[in-house]
Amino acid sequence: MSTQDQKTMNGLENVQWILGVASGKGGVGKSTVSAHLAVALKSLGLKVGLLDADIYGPSQGLMFGIAEGTRPKTDGKSFVPVEAHGVSIMSMAFLTTDQTPMVWRGPMASGALQQLLLQTQWGNLDVLVVDLPPGTGDIQLTLAQRARLAGAVVVTTPQDIAVLDAKKGIEMFNKVGVPVLGLVENMSYHICGKCGHQDALFGTGGAQTLEGRYGIPVIGRLPLDARLGEASDKGTPLEASDDALAENFRTAAKAVYESLQQGQQQMPGISDVDE
Ligand SMILES: Nc1ncnc2c1ncn2[C@@H]1O[C@H](COP(=O)(O)OP(=O)(O)OP(=O)(O)O)[C@@H](O)[C@H]1O
Ligand SMILES: [Mg+2]
Ligand SMILES: [Zn+2]
Repeated sequence: MSTQDQKTMNGLENVQWILGVASGKGGVGKSTVSAHLAVALKSLGLKVGLLDADIYGPSQGLMFGIAEGTRPKTDGKSFVPVEAHGVSIMSMAFLTTDQTPMVWRGPMASGALQQLLLQTQWGNLDVLVVDLPPGTGDIQLTLAQRARLAGAVVVTTPQDIAVLDAKKGIEMFNKVGVPVLGLVENMSYHICGKCGHQDALFGTGGAQTLEGRYGIPVIGRLPLDARLGEASDKGTPLEASDDALAENFRTAAKAVYESLQQGQQQMPGISDVDE
């Protein structure tokens, strides 16, 4: 796509902030956090979109209970995001089938993602949450750099290996000038069903170490809770206002929203600067 095409085809025109959700390590709960942050931001009264940018393991269709085989409406030039639980959602999974092999190399995948970001009619959004693919490779770097992220949230678990990878994620965002607004420590502890005491299964202090080192606040510590797995299996993110688990996400969402408001206002869109 030429720069001119991108300008005339910018579905991000009325999107105020793009928020990346990243983790260095896979499987730490990035998609679970992205989905719940999206519905929590919505519950604050914001208009919210969600881009599933994890093209190798897209999961937001499932998390939001979107029937398999659902295709976004299109006018031939751009797509209309699929609405679920009050969130506008777009995923490469909506455009591919079981028969489409996902054997893309980095540059192809990057290009396809940028195109998906721009060629979706996001409409009027306060926040577009982007569930980034795990890792800190070229795809993540390019997207972080070119999608003009207003900020990012880094998800980790307390284990040393995840913390080490989260550090790489933070440093990647630092390199491209994207502020990391907060850390979420997932699977942080388990609440005993009998007496309610909290048990730190994988040790403590992982995210706190990062907070100390980089000055990035821990905006959420989430328990290991089977309800989060069930929520994704059922396709219904937790969002009841009297639910302590959902309340964790709302607290994180408030912190993110405040940081976005405080941060320098950036016009979203694909950057013209070639690397
Ligand atoms: N706090 C939690 N308690 C219990 N289960 C959880 C929790 N967080 C995530 N899970 C479960 O762990 C699995 C991995 O979570 P998820 O898919 O969100 O991770 P991810 O980082 O996006 O993974 P990937 O790297 O594959 O994209 C899912 O089955 C999810 O339901
Ligand atoms: Mg995921
Ligand atoms: Zn107990």
